[in-house]
Amino acid sequence: MPTKTPSKSKKVVKPVSGTSHTQSIESTLPEKRLFKPNKAFAAKAKIGSMAQYEKMYRASIKDPEKFFAKQAEELHWFKPWRKVSEWKAPFTKWFIGGKINASYNCIDRHLETSRKNKAAIIWEGENFEQRTLTYAQLHREVSKAANVLKSLGVKTGDRVAIYMGMTPELAIAVLACARIGATHSVIFGGFSAEAIRDRVNDAECKLIITADGAFRRGTTVELKKNVDQALRTEAINIEGGAHTLGGCPSVEKVLVVKRTGEHVDMFSGRDVWWHDAMAEASADCPAVPLDSEHPLYILYTSGTTGKPKGIVHSTAGYLLGTYLTTKYIFDIRDEDVYWCTADVGWVTGHSYIIYGPLANGATVVMYEGAPTYPAPDRFWDIIERHGVTVFYTAPTAIRAFIRAGDEHPNKHKMSSLRLLGTVGEPINPEAWMWYHRVIGKGRCPIVDTWWQTETGSIMISPIPGAVPTTPGTATLPFFGIEPEVVRKDGTTCKPNEGGYLIIKKPWPSMLRGIYKDPERFAKQYFSDFPGIYFTGDGARRDKKGYFWIMGRVDDVINVSGHRLGTMEVESALVGNEAVAEAAVVGRPDEIKGSALVAFVTLKKGWPADENLKEKLRKHVGEAIGHIAKPDEIRFTDALPKTRSGKIMRRLLRELASTGSVAGDTTTLEDFSVLERLRAGEEE
Ligand code: PRX
Repeated sequence: MPTKTPSKSKKVVKPVSGTSHTQSIESTLPEKRLFKPNKAFAAKAKIGSMAQYEKMYRASIKDPEKFFAKQAEELHWFKPWRKVSEWKAPFTKWFIGGKINASYNCIDRHLETSRKNKAAIIWEGENFEQRTLTYAQLHREVSKAANVLKSLGVKTGDRVAIYMGMTPELAIAVLACARIGATHSVIFGGFSAEAIRDRVNDAECKLIITADGAFRRGTTVELKKNVDQALRTEAINIEGGAHTLGGCPSVEKVLVVKRTGEHVDMFSGRDVWWHDAMAEASADCPAVPLDSEHPLYILYTSGTTGKPKGIVHSTAGYLLGTYLTTKYIFDIRDEDVYWCTADVGWVTGHSYIIYGPLANGATVVMYEGAPTYPAPDRFWDIIERHGVTVFYTAPTAIRAFIRAGDEHPNKHKMSSLRLLGTVGEPINPEAWMWYHRVIGKGRCPIVDTWWQTETGSIMISPIPGAVPTTPGTATLPFFGIEPEVVRKDGTTCKPNEGGYLIIKKPWPSMLRGIYKDPERFAKQYFSDFPGIYFTGDGARRDKKGYFWIMGRVDDVINVSGHRLGTMEVESALVGNEAVAEAAVVGRPDEIKGSALVAFVTLKKGWPADENLKEKLRKHVGEAIGHIAKPDEIRFTDALPKTRSGKIMRRLLRELASTGSVAGDTTTLEDFSVLERLRAGEEE
């Protein structure tokens, strides 16, 4: 059953009192409030009434093929499909036989319209530099970069890793790969050398695109150095023969963007400066017509084992999913200045900084740096200066802003805003209300969008001009999506009964697999409820049919909206010479949603002291990245286990969250372990 209910269980931040308007809201429980779509918003919206949403939703469910085929006509096709879809569980195909290119759809087709000289990307560096790329300029840069890739030996079907900070070159690199049909694998800039190596080797990438470094929170992140370390091979002697260990044997070239200007080692024959290669490249590079099912990208995400999964997305179906959801959920229009604060290293950046908005011909703001640099009002400052109209961010950021204080947003004029969105974790009603009141000034609808790396695009969200919302619920499904909350035996839950969230039928942007691992794909997503996609989330559906997401039910934890597998962190910990065994669980956290608590047993002779705790945190940072560092490490001389030897995580979770264990402990092998763990806490 669902294990965490952050939206309900905890009052995170006290509601801010103020105007009489505020008081009237506070006098009613946020969960009971129904916010009807703002009339002025609805009057102009693409979908402006519940009746219209319901009509379209019904049609999309009655005949999804007809619905999606009609919508897909809005994209550019080199060759039309001959069959809309196919479903041989767990594998789906969409727009079979069609030829399409995502880069062409995001750029070229706008060049024939008045959008040609419209801003595609408005970029702001952490140090306040500004760059604007119109669609015509983006076309030129992407075409040149695609020619650079070709000149470095990259061909359609090859994999290219991208490990960069949030600069325009990141978007250009992604679109250049898509242009020639090289499958991109973006690796978040916060990941360590070891994490890069695992991902690059799994996908057998031929090329890595990186930068000398990235600016972040007033300092720099040494990206190229991490890549060098990932690629480093060590010569060793085994049984008299020389062998090489480590490294990334598939990588032939490294393309390096100059961003920070700090010194980096350039290895001749392998490393190439981006600016040198771009200076020589032609800007003529027609987009390659690709099969609808051509793998557009791989994105690694944490699962329930120690090894991250390479989620594979298709070209046509994925593009349609991101295009449609951006169009209807963000109600995107030509005059919008749209800003999604995610990093392109995560799926939100792929779908809602690059593919979705650009396919719609939108103007996208891209920001390089930290939300609070140089001051806690940086986001609000960006909104004011660029006149942002649609703003999409994460609950964890909202909670951090609440804590920083209202004076920061209140300093800025943000009357340009017309729509707000959230993603990544359940938003607690208090944070929702603050977002609504302090940022949206009670005027902007909020779309709480539920989806996952695997779903490719938003699955459950209010349509802002149509669906009344209540803080804490993602409300109703998007067109063509049929989610349901079920019990373990697959039967449908009663209203408000907690259960497992499944999606009954395939949809165009559904993941096509786990890279090179069809068995894991089938087992992970389609075995709990045979042949049906299981999300890994718990949820309930209320009497109105609204979905309330309750969080992960598996060993995946959402920390500040970043998804982490407990097994991954555990295997990093046991990779340290001092550690015998480790169990990692989540505990509710005011800002991060969940924090990581690691219970660690040490090998004989290691001192259980603060120094070692810090060493272990650092070790996890090196093995995975700083986002995976446990917030708390507790040393214990044994972990609670069942008689069959399984670690009783439920107990550890309870202990980490509440300090005591009230539940059933009858299967526990050694009761004294629990006593000792408790005692350890009181010390
Ligand atoms: O638990 C759900 C949570 O984030 C998970 C997906 O994480 P990831 O693949 O990293 O993608 C994050 C961005 C799409 C989900 O299984 N989640 C995401 N959005 C919401 C959410 N939980 C509640 N409400 C949301 N709006």
